[in-house]
Amino acid sequence: MTESTSGYQSSSRISHSSSNTPERHSKPLVRPQHPMGIGIDFGTTNSATALFDGEKVHLVKLEQHSIVMPSATYIDKNFGIVTGQEAINSYIEGNTGRTVELSAEVLGEGRTTTGQIGDGGLPEEGSTEKVYGQSFVDGGQTGRLFRGIKRLLGGSDSQRLMVFNRPFRLVALITPLLVRIKKSIDQQSKSIAGATTKHACIGHPVNFEGQKENKNNAALSMLAEAYGYADFKEKTYFAEPIAAALSYLHDNPGEKKDKLLAVDFGGGTLDLCILQHRDGDYEVIATHGVGLGGDHIDQLLFKELLFPLLGKGERWKRSGEDREIETLFPFEQYEDLILNWAVSYMLNQNQYTTPVLKRMESGDEGAVKYRRLYDLIKNNYSYLVFQTLKDLKATLSYQTEARLDIPELDIEFTVTRAHFEELIGSAVLDFESAITQVLKNANLQPDEIDLVIRTGGSSLIPIIKQSLNQSFPAKVVEHDPFTSVAAGLAIADYYGLGSDESEKITQG
Ligand SMILES: Nc1ncnc2c1ncn2[C@@H]1O[C@H](COP(=O)(O)OP(=O)(O)OP(=O)(O)O)[C@@H](O)[C@H]1O
Ligand SMILES: [Mg+2]
Repeated sequence: MTESTSGYQSSSRISHSSSNTPERHSKPLVRPQHPMGIGIDFGTTNSATALFDGEKVHLVKLEQHSIVMPSATYIDKNFGIVTGQEAINSYIEGNTGRTVELSAEVLGEGRTTTGQIGDGGLPEEGSTEKVYGQSFVDGGQTGRLFRGIKRLLGGSDSQRLMVFNRPFRLVALITPLLVRIKKSIDQQSKSIAGATTKHACIGHPVNFEGQKENKNNAALSMLAEAYGYADFKEKTYFAEPIAAALSYLHDNPGEKKDKLLAVDFGGGTLDLCILQHRDGDYEVIATHGVGLGGDHIDQLLFKELLFPLLGKGERWKRSGEDREIETLFPFEQYEDLILNWAVSYMLNQNQYTTPVLKRMESGDEGAVKYRRLYDLIKNNYSYLVFQTLKDLKATLSYQTEARLDIPELDIEFTVTRAHFEELIGSAVLDFESAITQVLKNANLQPDEIDLVIRTGGSSLIPIIKQSLNQSFPAKVVEHDPFTSVAAGLAIADYYGLGSDESEKITQG
């Protein structure tokens, strides 16, 4: 979990007047700014978009069969770009199951793909030498997939990610997603009278992930630039958990409870805010945001469930100068690359594969595990394995046990929900500390909160629900886990509640 603050300052008053009753509309607390509000939630894992016509929220269909689109960009060898589900499909079709062959490559100036690897699974800093000593390219690679780019925005803004030897700025990887979103908005807003589509309210976490000073403003600047390229000329900004609360209030116009806590637990961040009822409006009295999300949970699962099956903890023997040496296999040298699927192919270097092959030769029980590790590395199965773990996690939200089945690695066993909860215990504790912190920021005790609005994909995890139910008995409601933020942003855009570029967000 990264550090946290109460970063959100602007737009601290949100109107509760957006009900669709004529009486309320005749006296809006905030004057509409656009005939149609546009809200775009560019999430770590998923993106969603909504339109608001003053009465109804319309979710924009971003995929053929879905309003939610994976936040994924795929660039092929010819620099052809596809986005969303198609990006993921292209990556899986082209890159999984083939044997990876790396070759040394002369580097151009500057950064390479092989820098330090961030939690998001993508390279962060351009210190190739420091980490790997040499740059390698995967000659057979048919394309590169980027997912979780949002998690890198709080890093260095001069970042470049190499795609087939060509450097790409983060902005360039986000822009195609936004261009696609803009197209869908243009197509689907035609029925709304007076609708214009060159404006949008852009969501942001309370705190972006990353260590950089002033990271929130740096991240928003990059987002703003990308939105500009996608032809959104007028942009405002609004914090994601406040948008989720606004969407709830719109759906529940009679809500009069005094103090509301919104909890948005997504793929990359946990975002919290507390609102207080005042004179018919709600005022934001505290926010808090930390770098904790579904991605972290997936990595915990990988470490705990699969590392032991891939050889962690096994010993190996090899000949030393005058005798045989037996030590623990240096599994830790593989861990970061295994956990960061976007760069797992870097394991296809002799320095990594030779010890694995050697250990496989011993033919004992442990050798089977190294066979799996070898297959994982050679066939580039990392992304597929993460996807299987995500599915397992989601199934355990609805069932008390689920099968983890990875035939490619000859792994199949049952995981109970109880075991899953044990494995993610540290994340649950971090979640609970963040709740404690937002209450502290507002100077409130848990029993002073009157309603908890629970949203975001990771808030579907039963132990997370239980934790909230225990702290706030009979006060927790679930609100549109994957679309609440986009809906709230559209309402915020309609009423002009977002802050403009000059205000942005402050970092506490
Ligand atoms: N049924 C489920 N049970 C548990 N986790 C789930 C479930 N469905 C989705 N998730 C997880 O929720 C996360 C995605 O949630 P969401 O779409 O709210 O995030 P996001 O908006 O993309 O991320 P962020 O808001 O952090 O930028 C993923 O980590 C996904 O694995
Ligand atoms: Mg989100």
